[in-house]
Amino acid sequence: MSNATEAPILVMGAMDVETDYIIGKMTDVKQRMIGKWSFASGLFEGRPLVVCRTEWGVANASACTALAMEAYHPCAVISQGTSGAHDPELLNYDIVIGKKTVNTSAWKSHFEPQGSVDDPTNIEAIGVFAYDKHAGKFTQEVYHYASKRLLAAARKAEPTYTRGHVVEGTIGTCDTWNCQVDRVLFLHKFFESSVEDMESDAVAQICQTYDVPFLAIRIVSNSVFEGDQDWDLRVGPVCQEFVLNVIRNIEL
Ligand code: 5AD
Repeated sequence: MSNATEAPILVMGAMDVETDYIIGKMTDVKQRMIGKWSFASGLFEGRPLVVCRTEWGVANASACTALAMEAYHPCAVISQGTSGAHDPELLNYDIVIGKKTVNTSAWKSHFEPQGSVDDPTNIEAIGVFAYDKHAGKFTQEVYHYASKRLLAAARKAEPTYTRGHVVEGTIGTCDTWNCQVDRVLFLHKFFESSVEDMESDAVAQICQTYDVPFLAIRIVSNSVFEGDQDWDLRVGPVCQEFVLNVIRNIEL
């Protein structure tokens, strides 16, 4: 049974077009600013929900996650919204359920002296620091893995989606929008990433630190494999509708 005294599920999106649809489906909505970021709390079909508009990028997303942890003590966190395809098979409106996320800017390059042949693949992924409750300290991990329960809920919601394919994959995050096909293919091969965004792994990192279950769900809004195209922001509400179906299936 759900009621308003339960810990809420926190849903994050960077822009209005990634958050407004869900807020419109909630009741008893209270809007609040914490710092410069907006949070809407209320109920969705009786279940407490908080929706945060993070703005773009990893610093904003991680700040919002930490603030929401302290202000709302969520029982689960979903980072969702638009993304660019890394997998050439994916098209706009396809949805990626993130089995894992990765910060695609966290690497160490190996020493090459001045004037040597520049080999961009001569690097090693090193990950980012999050608190590990077993180690009792911050440890560095390349991938952050989705909560099994949240993943199970997303799998249950899969058959409800008719606008494209739903796949499970890896979501790559950093403050970069990659438009070079070769660069995207390199990232796809190096990290096994399905799509790229600017928030999900940062949210995952803070969720691990707070030991709160996490899942990323991203819809493709652009693909370099389709040529030099603009992004299609109409996918934003479509992703949110899928996220609501996932939330309906969450058993915590
Ligand atoms: N690369 C990076 N971020 C993207 N986003 C959508 N498509 C891409 C892309 N190809 C998302 C980010 C950020 C905003 C720019 O849209 O997550 O919030």
